[in-house]
Amino acid sequence: MKDYLYLQSKYVVPSYANRGLTIVRGQGVHLFDVEGNKYLDLMSNYGVNIFGYGHSQINSTIINQLKRLTNLHGSFTSDIRAEASEKLVKRCGEAYGKVYWSNSGAEAIDAALKFAALSTNRKKFVAAKNSFHGKTLGALSATGIEKYRKAYEPLLWQFVQVDYNEADQLKNAVDEKTAAVILEPIQGEAGVIVPDKKYLRKVEVSCREAGTLLILDEVQTGVGRTGWFLASHADSVEADIICLGKGLAGGLSVGATIMTNELAKKIPKSSHTSTLGGNPLVCAGVLATLKSLDEKILQHIKKTGRYLINSLKSIKSDLIVEIRGEGLMIGIQVSKDRDRILKDLQKNGVLAIPAADDVVRFLPPYIISKKQIDEAISVFRKVL
Ligand SMILES: Cc1ncc(COP(=O)(O)O)c(C=O)c1O
Repeated sequence: MKDYLYLQSKYVVPSYANRGLTIVRGQGVHLFDVEGNKYLDLMSNYGVNIFGYGHSQINSTIINQLKRLTNLHGSFTSDIRAEASEKLVKRCGEAYGKVYWSNSGAEAIDAALKFAALSTNRKKFVAAKNSFHGKTLGALSATGIEKYRKAYEPLLWQFVQVDYNEADQLKNAVDEKTAAVILEPIQGEAGVIVPDKKYLRKVEVSCREAGTLLILDEVQTGVGRTGWFLASHADSVEADIICLGKGLAGGLSVGATIMTNELAKKIPKSSHTSTLGGNPLVCAGVLATLKSLDEKILQHIKKTGRYLINSLKSIKSDLIVEIRGEGLMIGIQVSKDRDRILKDLQKNGVLAIPAADDVVRFLPPYIISKKQIDEAISVFRKVL
């Protein structure tokens, strides 16, 4: 057998941590390594494979489109892009009118920042400390996590960082020069930080009062992750721009920047485009995902999320500091040994991911059952 670990480390730029595991296949909520070992997936590839692996309806829709047409530049009309755009915009809610398609979460953020600057003629933004919006230069400029920014400073434009979940501080930072406020409804990379119930609502009001746009980065919280199609739906908050990515296209690369018609009117032709953005293959993945993500699965996410949190809370361990989350976006803050815990989970057949320096993050596929959660909890208990 080829030494894939060696090959990858020889030929791929070493900018990723290496988990020392060669995964070759997935089925349902399980991933399989090159030796045939089975892993219970509690991370869905950082939130991408929301329906797990081998979902028959999503796969057959993508395969059919693969045979028909994979690429079509945005200057042509595509039947499947038109349909996916209509379905996505409507699913986001009445406030929204149009979508700009790209290929990743960071690209969706870059587009949002450019559209906000274009439509307001301003380049000042208010963002949150410890936020994560992606690693392209634009998205990184909005990102608050110091370790990602440091080597690349000075970054772009003017981003004022305020404490997350401090509505008054944010209100004071917004002025007539501010193009937009950009926030995650729940901070993911910062350690699954869930704000107070009224926080987003207060932010929306401050933005309206100041005539400032509100950009919600729902790349991680969106597309059902919290048990709502958008996390902001839970609080009936309407933004001017919503950014989506990750699991929106059934596992294919996607970014989507959804905005109001009022804002879209101010975007000139050729001001921002992408050769592959919104290609028919990806749009087939979007259509299949939206179809599968019905009310029943959203209820399942809420219910199994509560079950997972309650099961975690039943574990007696001095290592656990706090358990936080909504739906199937869950963080377990530990007092020490975070990396050892992740490694031992992997050794025992359970895959989770890190967040911040001290949080074990679970972003399981939505199809996970209570029985599979029980299995994961028993491994987690043992590892702690
Ligand atoms: C909230 C949030 N925004 C943006 C991104 C960037 O997405 P991508 O890695 O697809 O560029 C991420 C990725 O984890 C994210 O969690």
